Amino acid sequence: MPLKFNYSFIKRQQEPFYIFYPERLKKKIRIFNENFSGEVLYAVKANPSKFIIEILLKKGINSFDVASLNEVKLIKKISPNAKIFFMNPVKSRNSIKKAYKNYNVRNFAIDSLDEIKKIQEETNFAKDLNIHLRLAIPNKFSAISLSNKFGVKEINAPQLLEYIKKEFFKVGICFHVGSQCMNPIAYKIAIEISKKIIKRSGVKINFFNIGGGFPVFYPGYKDFCLDDYFNQINDYILNLDDDNFLNTKLLAEPGRSIVSECMSMIVKVNLRKKNKLYINDGIYGSLNNAGYLGFNYPVKLFGREDKKSKFEPFIFYGPTCDSRDFMPGPFYLPDSINEGDWIEIEHMGAYTMTMKTKFNGFFEKYNVFTI
Ligand SMILES: Cc1ncc(COP(=O)(O)O)c(C=O)c1O
Repeated sequence: MPLKFNYSFIKRQQEPFYIFYPERLKKKIRIFNENFSGEVLYAVKANPSKFIIEILLKKGINSFDVASLNEVKLIKKISPNAKIFFMNPVKSRNSIKKAYKNYNVRNFAIDSLDEIKKIQEETNFAKDLNIHLRLAIPNKFSAISLSNKFGVKEINAPQLLEYIKKEFFKVGICFHVGSQCMNPIAYKIAIEISKKIIKRSGVKINFFNIGGGFPVFYPGYKDFCLDDYFNQINDYILNLDDDNFLNTKLLAEPGRSIVSECMSMIVKVNLRKKNKLYINDGIYGSLNNAGYLGFNYPVKLFGREDKKSKFEPFIFYGPTCDSRDFMPGPFYLPDSINEGDWIEIEHMGAYTMTMKTKFNGFFEKYNVFTI
């Protein structure tokens, strides 16, 4: 577990750092465990920190969606018995072979016949594999679309399902409604498309995986209630009166929703020019989504209070020399803010520190503390 934070550290701290709130993570895990009627696979890509994986395991999440061989190794090192779902639809031959042979991975996603063939060849035509067919479905309610790169079209899906049924142990369907999905209807639409495909194929489905996409509160996004998502999914799945869904196991792969709120990043102001704050993290560090995607995050002063000043909108610039290193926000902070102040950027647990580069010599390492 990370070291306990003490405000006296701030005097010594020069680089951006993180605060981890374990209780917030535990609360989110509880919400998923109590409200989702299937099995939760945590999407490791959102945040692969060991202290997060350990809490997930302790709280009953023992299955993981991974994208690479390194993520397989990471999870197996922490928990040799964890169940791995290798859900990247396009994998290297080497990662397929090693995941199967050395790490006992039996669940793989695909979205083409060529990828199926690769899996067959690299596993010596193993008969103990579960193959999950990734469908292309609309991502129109999501901040980040995941529909362009992956997914098999409705027209081609039934044939692939039949092939999987014939050649492998178990058959799965999976999809992703896109990350930060702002309308639970997206899941209903995706389930309807899946139902049609399954019916046409006549294949009995062993796994039905509704992916990730559950949203998090960011300023500028409309309010939402996670219960609406769970109700929509649970009701719809439980009421599926379709023989092809008999004994089907329901799965989900949340990433962002599980870990976003449990971490804040603390950044320092290097300079203020009117409403521009030059801070010590940016798009090449943890703020990729704030820059490229224009994500806003809740912010507040860290380490000092100001109850008197008016709140003003600020934009952030990162520490590199690239002028694209810019986060538009707007981030509302007290007008007294100036060089040397620290800012807590909240909801920074997902897709943040994993995206960092070493550009311009920055972002070598982030210290993480708990509170
Ligand atoms: C295959 C797959 N599963 C799950 C996730 C996690 O999605 P989210 O963070 O939106 O919950 C992603 C995100 O890219 C993904 O590609």
